[in-house]
Amino acid sequence: MADNKEHLIIFDTTLRDGEQSPGAAMTREEKLRVAKALEKLRVDVIEAGFATSSPGDFAAVKSIAEAIRDCRVCSLARTLPADIERAAEALKEAVAPRIHTFIATSPIHMEYKLQMTPAQVLEQAIGAVKIARNLVDDVEFSLEDGSRTEFEFMCRVIEAVIAAGARTINIPDTVGYGEPGQYGAMIGRVIKNVPNSDLAIFSVHCHNDLGLAVANSLSAVLHGARQVECTINGLGERAGNASLEEIVMAVRTRPDVFPVSTRIDTTQIVPTSRLVSTVTGFPVQPNKAVVGANAFAHESGIHQDGVLKYRETYEIMRAQDVGWNTNRIVLGKLSGRAAFSARLETLGITFDNKADLNRAFVRFKELADKKREIYDEDLQALVSDIQFGETAEHFSLIAMDVASRTGRAPHAELTLRAQGNDHQVAADGDGPVDAVFKAIEKLAHSGTSLQLYSVNAITTGSDSQGEVTVRLEKGGRIVNGQGADTDILVASAKAYLNAINLLETPDRVHPQRGV
Ligand code: KIV
Ligand code: ZN
Repeated sequence: MADNKEHLIIFDTTLRDGEQSPGAAMTREEKLRVAKALEKLRVDVIEAGFATSSPGDFAAVKSIAEAIRDCRVCSLARTLPADIERAAEALKEAVAPRIHTFIATSPIHMEYKLQMTPAQVLEQAIGAVKIARNLVDDVEFSLEDGSRTEFEFMCRVIEAVIAAGARTINIPDTVGYGEPGQYGAMIGRVIKNVPNSDLAIFSVHCHNDLGLAVANSLSAVLHGARQVECTINGLGERAGNASLEEIVMAVRTRPDVFPVSTRIDTTQIVPTSRLVSTVTGFPVQPNKAVVGANAFAHESGIHQDGVLKYRETYEIMRAQDVGWNTNRIVLGKLSGRAAFSARLETLGITFDNKADLNRAFVRFKELADKKREIYDEDLQALVSDIQFGETAEHFSLIAMDVASRTGRAPHAELTLRAQGNDHQVAADGDGPVDAVFKAIEKLAHSGTSLQLYSVNAITTGSDSQGEVTVRLEKGGRIVNGQGADTDILVASAKAYLNAINLLETPDRVHPQRGV
């Protein structure tokens, strides 16, 4: 949109902060798919991960840096030289690499978490920015727990890191404590007080513990912030981050209030939201603004009448502007391999080898036999459902038979494959899903506890695939397993097995807790 507004940088952290939500871990292939969707959405910066966290995270940041051409690609790093060097290495092939380094600056974090004095924190912050600037031109510095940091110290740190070469200064509301009026005014006051603030872009990163993340971010924009860090569907630590779709649509719908515009292709919002929901297993609540299933549904007769007569009586945004109604039938039973691969490519899905493409095509044909109309969402779920060698498949489902009859305990018989051998297991349960999980446990003995079980229809219609999420916890670690199938019991078995398989993968370092 050509206008005379200032540019608001949209920094997407779905793949980093979003992925820190318990159970939201994605595989390298899934992260790459989300990154390509974010590029299509036209975010300015993709925070691809925390490269030091694990070899898998490093590989994901590297793949994204190699594949993305139209966005800056960023890796998070603590203010430790090894973290910063690892980030730079992962970003080597990026067209526009950014290192985002951070340290906590609030009294409570410095004393109890870091056990460092303010002077030590200041020195480490300056040193980190200098190291990062020797490796890349674009360095962002964050004052973790910024909203609870003492004002004078915050200004001192910011002035020093700008002098050391940071060109984006992020003041996070790490614990979601901010209140819109106060937080926005604080950002404005910092910009006014720091003598060299004109050399940097000021950024905000708000968590949603009080449900104020979007309001706090927008208030900061009104006080001079020109970068907002946000996530698709508001995914993120605890109650999540500011939701990208809400920030973008607020700014676009209220140009009379906000002096900024973004370069986002808003028609990609809903497809990206669905993709993130599918790969993370975090469903979108129906009444979620912009991307919830009810966001544009006018149920009551009075509303419908109003909308039919004149749309703007009840609608402030158009559904098609955010990508609703793009739920097109893309493939069917007669579609061949060429059409299948072409459609996957449009969705940003590519395979490292032909064997994976063949497996995906076989699954597509099986699905097309059960379901006449195949949508993009079905393809995304199908690809997520296949294990591409990254997640070791310790257990897989070969066959199952479940009996559920009134007045009798449901009974499940499964054939499972473990390390190349097939095993028959059977169990009764309180319900058919319970019977399936109990049968799996007879072989797996996983020692986990079930935290959440949810089923969602991927598309509309009673032949829709059910997408099941199973969240398991073991020794404090939480994973989300997913499975999709037109038979929800099969999807449930796959999701449970996927979660158990994920628990076999190595855990990683958390950037803010160091574990
Ligand atoms: O919430 C936070 O403070 C963060 C920082 C690492 C930017 O995620
Ligand atoms: Zn955060």
